Amino acid sequence: MNKIIMGPQTLIYPMPALLVGANVNNKPNFMTVAWSGIANGEPPMISVAIRRTRYTLRGIRQNLTFSVNVPSTDMVRETDYCGLTHGSEVNKVEVCQFKVFYGELGNAPLIEQCPINLECKVAHILDLDSHSLVVGRIEETHVSEDCLTHGKPDVNKIKPLSYIRAPAERYQALGKVIAKAFSIGEELKARQ
Ligand SMILES: Cc1cc2nc3c(=O)[nH]c(=O)nc-3n(C[C@H](O)[C@H](O)[C@H](O)COP(=O)(O)O)c2cc1C
Repeated sequence: MNKIIMGPQTLIYPMPALLVGANVNNKPNFMTVAWSGIANGEPPMISVAIRRTRYTLRGIRQNLTFSVNVPSTDMVRETDYCGLTHGSEVNKVEVCQFKVFYGELGNAPLIEQCPINLECKVAHILDLDSHSLVVGRIEETHVSEDCLTHGKPDVNKIKPLSYIRAPAERYQALGKVIAKAFSIGEELKARQ
């Protein structure tokens, strides 16, 4: 098989499109983040890679708290807008008509319209080169009641967005189910 060498690239799939929130100078602001990942299980932690120049990062440093909000496909316009505009210049909450609420931490702004909201306390900030890797301890999770099935978050009701970079920059909904997890691999055990 021929492989084309492309140099170091951040090619990991899929990337979620998330809205990260922080109070900046006591006002809520949100930015779109695709570079994110689960960082720890016990306690639950999440990481977000934020370019050093972002207005939102200023708020994260001010309060040492932030939120991660999972938008659904019907919020694609707002999600993109928050990645195109700067909180230093526009009031994104007003433009997007976000209903902002606060939870346990008191100063990590959460978006009511997003089916999932994570309240995070900063555990580490690793200043890399272009980006700061912010690792947050998830202190509380809010899930919209209508996105639950038998009391559990249901991805088919949440309808998260993936951000795709190539061949064209766009957003994509989840694809079809192809196999059962922690199960399909059992078939290969016959080859052991
Ligand atoms: C789909 C998408 C994904 C993005 N992912 C990131 C990201 O992971 N990290 C980052 O620093 N900026 C990311 N951005 C860019 C910021 O969201 C953008 O610069 C935004 O204007 C920053 O807002 P702020 O200045 O109000 O903080 C992304 C933008 C889009 C549209």
